[in-house]
Amino acid sequence: MTVTQPAAAAPVKSPNAPTEETVLSVRHYTDRMFAFRITRPAAFRFRSGEFVMIGLEGANGKPLLRAYSIASPSWDDELEFFSIKVPDGPLTSRLQNIKPGDKVLLGRKSVGTLVHDALTPGKRLYLFSTGTGIAPFASIIRDPETYERFEQVILTHTCREAGELKYGQELVAALKDDPLVGEHSGRLVHYTTVTREPWPNQNRITTCIESGQLFADLGVPPLDPATDRVMICGSLEMLADTKALVEKAGLIEGSNSSPAQFVVEKAFVG
Ligand code: A2P
Repeated sequence: MTVTQPAAAAPVKSPNAPTEETVLSVRHYTDRMFAFRITRPAAFRFRSGEFVMIGLEGANGKPLLRAYSIASPSWDDELEFFSIKVPDGPLTSRLQNIKPGDKVLLGRKSVGTLVHDALTPGKRLYLFSTGTGIAPFASIIRDPETYERFEQVILTHTCREAGELKYGQELVAALKDDPLVGEHSGRLVHYTTVTREPWPNQNRITTCIESGQLFADLGVPPLDPATDRVMICGSLEMLADTKALVEKAGLIEGSNSSPAQFVVEKAFVG
């Protein structure tokens, strides 16, 4: 009779511990913003627009993690992120130095409210973003479901400087050649404003909404709860001010459990 000995117990990591992924590419846009792509574990699933914890091994051996919106669409083999560089930020001061081949930590679970499930059906989808707040919308505009649900998609991006718009400009320019959503790219409008440098439109998006300039420029009626749905992503102040204007137009905030007419999420930094 043979007796199978149990294998010696190896130290087991918690099933919820982040996985270690490999950096595939890094692109620096300005001295404040960069994008990077990492490997995606086969088991990692997410809905376009969600965020996940990303980080590095801390000096004390503990993971240093922050929430990052996933900028790639849910069907992509890789994961893409668009990040601010905070000079004294505990994570981004180090993360901005990553190179292809380096390891980063990826949380196992994604969550978020900037998802189609949190909005009721509508005709027009507004995606209001400032700075790196465009990241979740980079995912949404590359998702075929977006064009199944809406006739028109309006992505607004406001940055301090023109160079900070480049990530979004390249993304939108590449959309027409996208195998999955290229045929719908004519239904996406990209509306850019820059506040601290010369640019054709130098207003904050809140000013453009309030004055009606946005709607005049687009040739569409003002925000209307009957037809329009809205997602908002930017700094806390931008969220508060934009949300107030959207609510003033009569739209109601939705969530995963109770879909409605607009959703809000902060662009996380640190
Ligand atoms: P401004 O230059 O007038 O502050 P940040 O990088 O600080 O998040 O800013 C990104 C963009 O968001 C900037 O163009 C900034 O304009 C704009 N912004 C900042 N606060 C608000 C706000 N409360 N409402 C709308 N836009 C804002």
